[in-house]
Amino acid sequence: MTILTTARLRLEPFNQSHLDGLQAMNSDPQVMRYITGRAETREETLASIARVKARWDEWLFSWWVFIERDSHQIIGAGCIQHLGRDAANPLEIGWRLRQDKWHQGFASEAAQEMARFAFETFGVGTLCAVCHPDNKASEKVMQRLGMQFRAIEHWYDADMLTYAMTRADWDGRPALPGRAHGKDDGSA
Ligand SMILES: CC(C)(COP(=O)(O)OP(=O)(O)OC[C@H]1O[C@@H](n2cnc3c(N)ncnc32)[C@H](O)[C@@H]1OP(=O)(O)O)[C@@H](O)C(=O)NCCC(=O)NCCS
Repeated sequence: MTILTTARLRLEPFNQSHLDGLQAMNSDPQVMRYITGRAETREETLASIARVKARWDEWLFSWWVFIERDSHQIIGAGCIQHLGRDAANPLEIGWRLRQDKWHQGFASEAAQEMARFAFETFGVGTLCAVCHPDNKASEKVMQRLGMQFRAIEHWYDADMLTYAMTRADWDGRPALPGRAHGKDDGSA
């Protein structure tokens, strides 16, 4: 199980100790608005941690919590996983943040590092991302990451904006101000 770090975040594979932090975020209907449309119960959060732990064992990638390095609080979560959670499908990258942490660049910062992990550690060929057509904030994270709109595709029982990025897109991405570049930022 792989821990990732960025300038402001530590990304930890889900474990039992993350229950309270994950539940606080996932029980906010605004966070879940374009995902399931309703607050997640504590039992559901508990079950998702168990599922995710099994996927880490099986696939060597799955969901991380985003821990703010300054406060040590769980402020979000993100994933690399098979679309539809079916190993026959391409890989997707995903993210969510606690509402009080929106608009500060945390999702894009984590997305950079999760994508780096997928392309550079795993040698993934293509990463997809999907969102509800009205979820403009999530679409912007995809665009900021350098993903390209592909089509409206049917995933998770809904028509979703589907973006994709190849390894070649990743290697050729421009350096944008505000992007956390990890080891590539010129620092020692
Ligand atoms: C989707 C979601 C994670 C996007 O969060 P976000 O805060 O908009 O995205 P980022 O963390 O990348 O922040 C980008 C914003 O921070 C600003 N910002 C500030 N500092 C920044 C920095 N250092 N780097 C990048 N952006 C920065 C950007 O200008 C941008 O501003 P904007 O919101 O006015 O466009 C969030 O809306 C969310 O959790 N939604 C609910 C869950 C969800 O729908 N998840 C996606 C399912 S498909």
